[in-house]
Amino acid sequence: METKIRKIDKNQIDEKVIEEAGALLREGKLVAFPTETVYGLGADALQEEAARKTYEAKGRPSDNPLIVHIADYEQLKKIAVNIPPETDILAAHFWPGPLTMIFEKSALVPYGTTGGLDTVAVRMPVDPVAQALIRAAGGFVSAPSANTSGRPSPTTARHVEEDLSGKIDMILDGGTVDIGLESTILDMTVSPPMILRPGAITAEMFEKVIGQVDVDKTLLSEESTQAPKAPGMKYRHYAPKAKLIMVEGDLREEILAIRQISYEADRKGKPIGIIATSETLPFYNHGIVKNIGTRENEKTIARNLYSILREFDEENVDTIYSESFAVQGIGSAIMNRLEKAAGHLRIPASEIVKLQKYRRVTFVSGTDSARGPMAAELLRHCDLKQEYVINSRGIVVLFPEPANQKAEAIMKSARMTLADHSSLQFDDEDIKEDTLVLTIDESQKEKILSEYGSRDNVFTLNEFIGDDTAIPDPYGKPLTAYGECLEVLDKLIKKLADKLNSLMEEEK
Ligand code: TXA
Ligand code: MG
Repeated sequence: METKIRKIDKNQIDEKVIEEAGALLREGKLVAFPTETVYGLGADALQEEAARKTYEAKGRPSDNPLIVHIADYEQLKKIAVNIPPETDILAAHFWPGPLTMIFEKSALVPYGTTGGLDTVAVRMPVDPVAQALIRAAGGFVSAPSANTSGRPSPTTARHVEEDLSGKIDMILDGGTVDIGLESTILDMTVSPPMILRPGAITAEMFEKVIGQVDVDKTLLSEESTQAPKAPGMKYRHYAPKAKLIMVEGDLREEILAIRQISYEADRKGKPIGIIATSETLPFYNHGIVKNIGTRENEKTIARNLYSILREFDEENVDTIYSESFAVQGIGSAIMNRLEKAAGHLRIPASEIVKLQKYRRVTFVSGTDSARGPMAAELLRHCDLKQEYVINSRGIVVLFPEPANQKAEAIMKSARMTLADHSSLQFDDEDIKEDTLVLTIDESQKEKILSEYGSRDNVFTLNEFIGDDTAIPDPYGKPLTAYGECLEVLDKLIKKLADKLNSLMEEEK
């Protein structure tokens, strides 16, 4: 079947296009259309056969009920019975809008539409294109999200095309949707009403209007702190092709954990995907990083969520790691969708962060012009399981100077360079507890301890690795002395790398 695509501007609706689309729906055909939440796959809700086609096009099991969309509040009484009194107040506040309410169904609604249930889900969207189409179709349009079952919901007409081109009759392209997550579903057949799916209308918003509402307890996944085992496929719904894993903890820990995971993955030549935010983007320098929006306005995150998941399907990554969001306001809906997409795979950030005893390694020599910078550069060339900030400092540095020329010459002969080095005085910034301070000889260690008091992160290099090979001081001697020094340092720094790598194992 050829899928017609018609552009439509919600601020200036072309009635001819709406009439064409409405006629298709009245004939029992399928038309995808924009709503404020996500694109819907429209069909006439009162025709059993149209519902069957909907399930077929989406590849969705036919016991999963559809939402019936209306454009005028009076229409509700035709499809629902025993409508509870709070409905008027809720409708006055939230309709038209991203709210779906569930009622007992009337005889008018076929079981094909409700997946065999005696209840019907009803929503009145605010998008003017959706409203015009519903009216043109006769008033009742069933519309699941217009994606292939199991894929992320569509937030642009392009997404609909990707999934359903050739399977449906028409797509109305009204641009990018506003909210980006499906409507809140509120079950009105129980008292108090119960939220079955979180969305842009939150529990807090309902409570201001009708008092207490319940929340379906199964929405938020069990508080498991277990590392993920096999992907829980049966829970995956809004699923990207790659495996998605939620990293959970406080934001600082999440960043550190994702940095570590992405560093390790790069080292193994298997880069990962990262879902980051405007605020955290600069912290990631490995992997394929995508910005989901700003933490200052979580609506941006909701709007980008599904398109980011789809974008990752175009990337060559097996695993995506995502930062987490606070479960409040629209954050509840964001986390609900992300956790579903992740099949509830999660890693506590603290488990990874606790493996990192140190995050920096700082070598300290007298003037920071030869042995310290050489040691630092040697360590940068080692294969480390963790990404360290590696520096060198001096005990007496009067002003910044480039590295000693002989030190540079000998490093060049070993295909390394100190060309970017500029000497720096050791100071308060360098003694923090996440820093492993390694001095070239005993005198520098004593100097630091006498200045800062007793510390358990300051060692001589020999002491830390348990090797007493003396590091010769080549200063004022010929180039060969620098060569001998490099040889000793090279051996010691390799041992240091092994020791740092084994520290991570010990913690595990
Ligand atoms: O924002 C939305 O609600 C979008 C747009 C297109 O309006 N539609 C949407 O439909 O998300 P869909 O089919 O992707 O999701 C409908 C959800 C399903 O989880 C379904 O199980 C539930 O609503 N649902 C529908 N009727 C129900 C009923 N009678 N009782 C319980 N759940 C119902
Ligand atoms: Mg859906």
